Amino acid sequence: MLMSRLFVAGSAVLICILSGCGGEQSATASPDTAAPLAISDLLASADIKRGQTMFFQCRACHSLEEGGMNKVGPNLYGVFGRKAGLVPGFVFTDALKNTDVVWTVEAMDGWLARPSDFLPGNRMVFVGVKDARERANLIAYLQQETGANNLLPDSD
Ligand code: HEC
Repeated sequence: MLMSRLFVAGSAVLICILSGCGGEQSATASPDTAAPLAISDLLASADIKRGQTMFFQCRACHSLEEGGMNKVGPNLYGVFGRKAGLVPGFVFTDALKNTDVVWTVEAMDGWLARPSDFLPGNRMVFVGVKDARERANLIAYLQQETGANNLLPDSD
């Protein structure tokens, strides 16, 4: 993690040198968001194999395949594009049942970063994945395994 921070900082300096360092940072790189590591960008280069390994943290509680059973947590097949808290046969807390959250990749990114902050009062015992690139790897794997058809953020 430290290494990748250093790498990003290093690349910024390098770009700065190469481009003559106009002053305004990344005026063209990400016009619609201030965050340099937007989930949509990260997904494009996500490491699905790495995501599969990360899913080891989830699989005690979640199955992914169509018709898979609910465990401690709900089956996640078809989760992308669906409103939170709708899996048949699973008893959700009000935090998930009563929210308007739809599981876009952006919502999923926020949830997996820190579930307790994203939907306070939920019952998913998971601290979160801090690293944005690691979340993207995991989300890419989830998409592949849950029939998501690579929904883009904000697509209908
Ligand atoms: C200790 C068990 C546990 C672990 C570990 C866990 N979850 Fe959950 N998860 C739950 C529970 C329980 C809920 C329902 C929470 C509620 O109703 O408040 C849930 C809900 C969810 C939902 C919302 C589903 C829906 O239909 O609204 C998603 C998405 C999800 N988990 C993904 C993950 C991912 C990805 C991981 C691994 C990084 C993970 N979870 C780790 C137990 C767990």
